[in-house]
Amino acid sequence: MSVNATWYSHACFLFQSQKAKLLVDPFITGNPLAPITADKLQADYILVSHGHGDHVGDTVAIAKRTGATVISNFEIQNWMVAQGLTKVHPQHIGGGFDYPWGRVKLTLALHGSALPDGSYGGSPCGFLFYIDGKKIYHACDTGLFGDMKLIGEEGIDLAILPIGDNFTMGPEDALRAVKLIAPKRVVPIHYNTFDVIKQDPAAWAARVEKETKTQVAVMKPGDTIAV
Ligand code: NI
Ligand code: MN
Repeated sequence: MSVNATWYSHACFLFQSQKAKLLVDPFITGNPLAPITADKLQADYILVSHGHGDHVGDTVAIAKRTGATVISNFEIQNWMVAQGLTKVHPQHIGGGFDYPWGRVKLTLALHGSALPDGSYGGSPCGFLFYIDGKKIYHACDTGLFGDMKLIGEEGIDLAILPIGDNFTMGPEDALRAVKLIAPKRVVPIHYNTFDVIKQDPAAWAARVEKETKTQVAVMKPGDTIAV
């Protein structure tokens, strides 16, 4: 069985299996590349990697409309509850949980996590999904770290890595990340949303495919791939 992965630009992905729709970091309103409006998005679960506005995004509105359960670290959950959400599931880094649709483990991410109103957002994270026999690593916002090698030891079908530079890994470090993780396939994200993170994904893809065995899928906002 395959999992359909739709990229809504920046770090926002929708993973759809037969059992659930999982929405990650739904930054739609105010995102110049978003191919959809937030009121059109459906979700059973929303995963939030850290507190920054370009990741929390429309989470509260989408969760209230759809009844989706929000998964994130404990500190962000406290904030979500303060915004009026009741369906939340806190986890924390290194911890996995078996949901009816599969498992997700929170991974290390080197970044910040203050929430839009300045509240403490705990430690940022990435997500390692185990869905229908597929392993998907969404690094979210992070700098390069050597323990990506440990994540790669799990045997990653799809890695989703930021290449924008300035706030996260840039193209050079993202290439090193691919070498550490050695996924079957990689999708570059978190670029071209703002001028300060402008990158050429095709040039990055060419380098990755020349220097590694990993295939690159350069997606356009709104594109879906089967994992
Ligand atoms: Ni961030
Ligand atoms: Mn970001």
